[in-house]
Amino acid sequence: MKRIQDLWCEAVSGPLRRLRALLIAGTIVAQILVVIAAILAARRLGPVHAVAMALLVSCALTLSLVAILLLGRLSAKLNDTRALAMLQGWIAERGWRIRDFFLDGASADASLCLLVAKVLSLRPRRILELGSGQTTKLVWNYCRDEPGAEAVSLEHNAAWSRVLDQYLRPAIPNHVVRVAPLERRTWSGPRGKEVTSEWYGVNDLGDGYDVVLIDGPNGSRNYSRSGIVPQLPKLLAPSFVIIVDDAERYGEIMTLGLIESTLQGAGRKYVRWEANGLKRQVVFATPDRGFLVHS
Ligand SMILES: C[S@@+](CC[C@H](N)C(=O)[O-])C[C@H]1O[C@@H](n2cnc3c(N)ncnc32)[C@H](O)[C@@H]1O
Repeated sequence: MKRIQDLWCEAVSGPLRRLRALLIAGTIVAQILVVIAAILAARRLGPVHAVAMALLVSCALTLSLVAILLLGRLSAKLNDTRALAMLQGWIAERGWRIRDFFLDGASADASLCLLVAKVLSLRPRRILELGSGQTTKLVWNYCRDEPGAEAVSLEHNAAWSRVLDQYLRPAIPNHVVRVAPLERRTWSGPRGKEVTSEWYGVNDLGDGYDVVLIDGPNGSRNYSRSGIVPQLPKLLAPSFVIIVDDAERYGEIMTLGLIESTLQGAGRKYVRWEANGLKRQVVFATPDRGFLVHS
């Protein structure tokens, strides 16, 4: 069952989310004021008139709330459509033929893939991807074109990995998908708080990653996908970009806080920004990559 905080995060996800959060909160407050006003007016106008007026105003407020929510989803879809057009142009420009590039369901959406494309166009050297899928096809194509780059994609689901494998052919030495079952790990968070999360059963990832894409394993309610956090400072190259997908969800929002305090604790300077389609991606990057905010 969804919690209040999950529903709230869902309602305000997408473009202009701060404005929408304000409008939604304002509408809820206005509904409460209408009830109070109706109770006060009942003495003067009589209960029938007061209730009728309150119902009328309340209906108008509810309709405007529905309109705000629907317009939010519509503008998110428009953002995704715009991202898809740019992404297709970028893929065509590189001459990549990507089969079955379906950006729906559990897959990455166009806005995430476009972010990945923009980061790949900066020619990173070492890429770590958590959770494999459509973005892995982009990473594999990139590694094929750039033999000097290396990428590791971690995947927990062996059956899905077998399906995806047929799209990552021929095998290339500089891209590996490592299939590893998930383990529950408990660790001490930045302020001494105990955090339990799932992590792929691997310990030897090395270091020096200039791109880390956090889009797996499947989300959890609290501190979703935070298993990478204890390893983050060590994994990162001096110049890095971290992309966190599904950052509209409460569990991922909790993890964003952990990532920030971990980076701050390790004295790593960063800029943070976000991309909003139907899903939200939050990006942390060293200031030398900060221009991506405007790209
Ligand atoms: C959010 S998805 C990872 C998405 C990935 N970055 C992508 O581009 O599709 C998290 C997990 O969902 C599973 N998954 C991804 N795409 C899938 C698909 N098309 N069908 C079934 N499972 C999928 C994989 O196990 C993956 O690790």
